[in-house]
Amino acid sequence: MHKNVLKLMGLMLLIAACAGPKSPQDRLTVNDKKIDKIIEQMTLEEKVEMLHSKTNMSSAGVPRLGIADMNYADGPFGIREEGVPNGFTPAGWKLDSATYFPTGSALAATWSKDLAYLYGTGMGKEARLRGKDIILGPAVNIQRLPVGGRTYEYLSEDPILSAALSLNYTLGVQDQGTAVCIKHFAVNNQETNRGSVDAQVDERTLREIYLKPFESAIVKGGAMSVMPAYNRVNGDYCSENEHLLNEILRGEWGFKGYTLSDWGGTHSTMGAMLHGLNVQMTGSSYLGKPVIDSINTGALTEDLVDEKVRQILRVRFAIEPVPADVANTEMTSKPEQQQIAYKVAQRSIVLLKNQGNVLPLSKNVKKIAVIGQNAVLKTQSGGMGAGVKALYEITPLQGIQKRAGDAVEVVYAPGYKNFAGRRWGPAAANPNPLVATAIDEPADPDLLAEAVAAAKDADVVIFFGGTNKNIETEGSDRQNIKLPTGQEEVVAALYEANHNLVSVLISGGPCDLQVLEQYSPAIVQGWWNGTEGGTALAEVLFGDIAPSGKLPFTFPVKLEDSPAYAMGNFPNAAPTGGDLFTEQYRRDVIGGSAPQQGDRRAARPVPVSKYTEGSLVGYRWFDTKNVPVMYAFGHGLSYVDFTYGPMKVKSGKKVVTVTFDLTNTGSMEADEVVQLYVRRIDSKVEWPYKELKAFDRVTLGAGETKTVTLEIPAEDLRYWNVDTNSWTLEHGKLELLLGSASDDIRQKADATI
Ligand code: GLC
Repeated sequence: MHKNVLKLMGLMLLIAACAGPKSPQDRLTVNDKKIDKIIEQMTLEEKVEMLHSKTNMSSAGVPRLGIADMNYADGPFGIREEGVPNGFTPAGWKLDSATYFPTGSALAATWSKDLAYLYGTGMGKEARLRGKDIILGPAVNIQRLPVGGRTYEYLSEDPILSAALSLNYTLGVQDQGTAVCIKHFAVNNQETNRGSVDAQVDERTLREIYLKPFESAIVKGGAMSVMPAYNRVNGDYCSENEHLLNEILRGEWGFKGYTLSDWGGTHSTMGAMLHGLNVQMTGSSYLGKPVIDSINTGALTEDLVDEKVRQILRVRFAIEPVPADVANTEMTSKPEQQQIAYKVAQRSIVLLKNQGNVLPLSKNVKKIAVIGQNAVLKTQSGGMGAGVKALYEITPLQGIQKRAGDAVEVVYAPGYKNFAGRRWGPAAANPNPLVATAIDEPADPDLLAEAVAAAKDADVVIFFGGTNKNIETEGSDRQNIKLPTGQEEVVAALYEANHNLVSVLISGGPCDLQVLEQYSPAIVQGWWNGTEGGTALAEVLFGDIAPSGKLPFTFPVKLEDSPAYAMGNFPNAAPTGGDLFTEQYRRDVIGGSAPQQGDRRAARPVPVSKYTEGSLVGYRWFDTKNVPVMYAFGHGLSYVDFTYGPMKVKSGKKVVTVTFDLTNTGSMEADEVVQLYVRRIDSKVEWPYKELKAFDRVTLGAGETKTVTLEIPAEDLRYWNVDTNSWTLEHGKLELLLGSASDDIRQKADATI
């Protein structure tokens, strides 16, 4: 071929490549010309119809022009059951049972990017079956407080771990042709006063800690929609926060999709319109007729409305609507997704302690006493918004019974009463003897005696403790992290009766283990682990698989040691006694009239939450301040040992690469999560003692060695420079700390950047 023709072809290829989408967000703009033509044909009324909810879980398209509505489904860990059009009351459908995936903190305990991606694909597929365009998830706020009501929905206390999982969850969902709505943007770290609290956080901490998981999903993952949080950040509500929504999200990150407020989280017409909100959920009090009125008076322009409609239509065009006669024609939960939930559960379980190798259970065990209601209570629903009507859920007791088979006797006793939460309806006429009315109700003598009797003649006792979804829930934070309803008394008595004792904690967040620790030679964190949670747990207990989960957050010795408490930042103010969404939800469930929202809140002073601990969140605090912990971030034991060879370090311009040999010296296959932390040496900038910068999950057969490579992108080593208002890379020396947990560093090496 002639040289010039070749050159021309090369040039054309180059032009074609340049004309394509430049970033994942730019994929949303490919239909802009078509969209502009549609906007030209729309009336102002039609446009404004798109700026607020149509039903409780949808916002309008343009019926006249054949543009479908946007249908939303609550995540983040399963497609929520269908509600009635105007509320959360279940619609009573038959085919809307979904797969219950392990909740956020369980997913994070896998430290697996691959599993986060798979999880996203599972959520995305089931959303399509239900005719949903957008999943209200992932939920990726940093777990700042051990008591946080939504810790179980969120991922981790660490931004690098949260960001990696949030990115892969997003990619998984969106690769299925469903959009994510990443939430809650931003700094929603407490439920106390969540509808009004002003989170006051310095810019560097905001960027380096709290925004990271959003940034990666939006910039690298192309997340198509974003849910501003209920709270305020540095003065302004998130749904009308110029800095968060216009400057950072759209300006710096190039976000091209649309934002929809949390339910009841829109606060004004002008604020929302001018400062970055697209859709009011729910209602039209602010982004309905008042928008038209404001245009008529000249306070707002129709161009601004067009811009918002364009952003919504971009997502509408990127996501193919599911035809009404195709959606909801088969059961939502599918075996393929149940397998994903199972895989995640298997890898999420954390072996916190294993004194005397109580675990795995000995082959000689003939009788097991399972004690504690958390072994039988289902965890799929509760906790308010995030819940799933699971097609099925294997409880821990069912998992153990099935695995034990006929050769092993399994006895069960409830052990303690279950705290059933705040009651909204009238008191029950005949109280259930297994239900506690107060969270700190002491152990019930009869239940205790029954449990001790069962424990005495068993070969091993498995105690199931922890919290439940009445204790850890959206809308409120825990008062403390103490084990509820006399569980400590129960475990002490069980140990007295039988020293061969394993404790399994079923909870989404950390608990105070000071007492349990004394009586329990083995402790397992079992999470709220989805549809196949009980199966996975039994496999770990019986040693069919080695445990391989690692803590995504710290278990402090006591609550008061944790950063926001130690700094006096939390609890921050007397609760104002009402949560906007809780009230709406309660009305929906038990009826009653609507409160005067605007008036009620306007009359209250703004509660403030100061973030003066700065970036010292979680282990960053405990390490830097030298405060001992109960179980460290990243901790998790196995049934095998791993040895870490010395690190070879290569410092490139864009990436620091570390390679080392990892060996499984045990006699079974096992996964290890390798963790690479960075400590700054002689830096002019202030840093926490060390920070996680890379990690991987590695599977090794018995006796196997693999060479592992970890990469730290230079961009992850930058800090937010408040003088220049930009990311800055400080050149200098680093110490690389490689290990199996944040408090179990096996190899050290120096690097220069
Ligand atoms: C809420 C939650 C949010 C959820 C929404 C719809 O109050 O904060 O996470 O997606 O309602 O249920």
